[in-house]
Amino acid sequence: MNWAIVVAAGSGRRMGDGVPKPYRLLGGVPILGRTLEIFRQSASFEEIVLVVAADAMNACRREVIAPLGMEDHVSVVAGGSERQESVCAGLEACRGRDDDVVLIHDGVRPLVTVDLLRTCLAKAADHGACVPAIPSADTLKQARPNGRIIKTLPRDAVWQAQTPQGFRLALIRTAHRKARQESFRGTDDAQLVERLGKPVHIVPGSRTNIKITCPEDLILAEAFWQQRRT
Ligand code: C5P
Repeated sequence: MNWAIVVAAGSGRRMGDGVPKPYRLLGGVPILGRTLEIFRQSASFEEIVLVVAADAMNACRREVIAPLGMEDHVSVVAGGSERQESVCAGLEACRGRDDDVVLIHDGVRPLVTVDLLRTCLAKAADHGACVPAIPSADTLKQARPNGRIIKTLPRDAVWQAQTPQGFRLALIRTAHRKARQESFRGTDDAQLVERLGKPVHIVPGSRTNIKITCPEDLILAEAFWQQRRT
């Protein structure tokens, strides 16, 4: 069986106004609703665990989930102050068995495709852990906090990781438990599996699968959205 955890409990301050990112509109529908629609279209998931800010749970049920008619497919839980804690809350609420597969996805990546969801499910089932990623178009520099460059990273060896990231439930449960015990903070879920010494495989991501982080991203997302509809 396949399960999904969609995290959307971030405060979204970088958007610069009062509305948290998941609730900004994309094509007239909240970004988070757009994301959930793709998961529904894939018809691949037993249940979607949606992690939102504690004070947004009721509004989210009323304004995002009910209009989509997804009340029976989505269970809403409260997130934490950091993404990793929000994923932990989602994992605790996930009813899957250890050998089931879970996809963990940022609610603010509404341009994910059904194809990518299915590819990640298949790869995670085969290999235990996978991450969609794209090659870096820019040259990447490693630098000190003061801005002085330490070195240039070899571009053909670095990738920009996206979500959905797919895992066997036993593996990602263990990875998060260990990170919590050791107070380790990662920037994505795959990193927690990597530090167990377990292999994580890349699947081809997409340049349109952007994370809506700042106002410019929303302009891009609207353009991609319109293009997809034509
Ligand atoms: O913080 P970042 O931009 O990396 O957030 C990626 C995703 O993680 C977003 O969908 C955001 O809502 C979610 N998040 C969360 N809980 C937090 C912080 C971020 O669910 N405390």
